[in-house]
Amino acid sequence: MTKLVIEGGHRLNGAVHIHGAKNSALPILAASVLVNGECYIENCPDLSDVAAAVAILRHLGCHVQREGHTVIVDASGVCRGDIPDALMREMRSSIVFLGAIAARTGGAHLSFPGGCELGPRPIDLHLAALRQLGLHIREEGGCLHCHAAGRLKGRAISLSFPSVGATENILLAAVTAEGSTTVYNAAREPEISDLCAFLTACGARIRGAGESTLIVEGVEALHGCTHRVIPDRIETATYMAAAAVTGGSLVLKEVCPEHVQSVLPFFEEMGCGITPWRGEMLISAPARLRRVKTVRTLPYPGFPTDAQALLMAMACVAEGTSVFIETIFESRYKHVGELMRLGARVKVEGRVAVVEGVEQLSAAPVECTDLRGGAALVLAALTAQGETEITNLYHLERGYEALAESLQGVGAVLRVEK
Ligand code: EPZ
Repeated sequence: MTKLVIEGGHRLNGAVHIHGAKNSALPILAASVLVNGECYIENCPDLSDVAAAVAILRHLGCHVQREGHTVIVDASGVCRGDIPDALMREMRSSIVFLGAIAARTGGAHLSFPGGCELGPRPIDLHLAALRQLGLHIREEGGCLHCHAAGRLKGRAISLSFPSVGATENILLAAVTAEGSTTVYNAAREPEISDLCAFLTACGARIRGAGESTLIVEGVEALHGCTHRVIPDRIETATYMAAAAVTGGSLVLKEVCPEHVQSVLPFFEEMGCGITPWRGEMLISAPARLRRVKTVRTLPYPGFPTDAQALLMAMACVAEGTSVFIETIFESRYKHVGELMRLGARVKVEGRVAVVEGVEQLSAAPVECTDLRGGAALVLAALTAQGETEITNLYHLERGYEALAESLQGVGAVLRVEK
């Protein structure tokens, strides 16, 4: 089994280029199904989740090619509306294809995406909203059999929770529906705004991107476009945390400082100096981090759940005790057991985790439990004494392009052993 071996104790210094946002590229790739023409999606990260989305597009009849970080999708040949179970299982967020496939082909057949390491991952909000837009959905045998009698019809939809995925599915179903759709309590994440920007470039009519009320005026058809995916704010936070745990300083290039405003105060509370400057950001860390009093994960613009594990890795070696409250997912502490193998002192009670910082972590063999939990193990290994061996690297490959190379480029001492 391939493992990443990291020798801890080396300060990181230098510059890291941030890639395009995974959680923006995925819904934009799904949205390209709606376009009877070519879309040039620039700054598209080279990740296994993106490869899974491309496999679905090709299965549906799209022609897809990658030229560096530009993915070109021609969906004029879309000829089917089913996603095989194997492809659905490869990436549970493939549910975001449902709205686009149904709107484009008048029906959709796909298996329930199932849960993942973060919990059952229900899709009730997606299905309720799509039914309100006129999609008939029959749930049978672990599959969703959907059909629309004619064009979907726009209407007002209120979400009980600002679900990112449900907001995306509604947008993809509504942009070519008949009439107007208003989404109340919509998600406000930057990835939603980026999806709206892509759809608008294709001729969609959307107001309120980034706000909690979205208004979509349905149009007859969408045309091709060229769109550049926004920088990945969670990858940005990951490299910020890498500088923080090693007492180093990094220049992060091609970032969007505005999108990480929700994490900056926590890094500063822990003693980091951060200077956003145009499309770059400089972060420098203290010799030893201070504890963070309370980190409560919230929908954007609150502290992002995807950065919880990253900050927890920092808290493990900070001076003092930090408290985490995970309000978004019901079981997003799978990384705690592995951090404790490295000597971290963490107590979990339900959605609360209390972290008592220690002077020094020590190397041990650990395995990634999920994407961001795996990133937390990499961060902990960067500061642990000795060589830490990390396995189950496929979790990391879902969301980080060239992670090992980028870290090596700024002074990390690591190797990949096949
Ligand atoms: C997106 O997941 C991201 N994934 C997640 O990033 C991110 O953690 C999450 O948004 C929150 O920001 C992608 O964009 C591909 P939600 P999503 O719908 O859309 C509950 C990563 O690490 N819920 O906002 O699934 C749900 O169970 C990943 O890159 C329902 O109850 O998030 C969860 O508790 C992990 N019913 C909460 O809402 C529904 O129908 C947030 O889910 C839908 C969601």
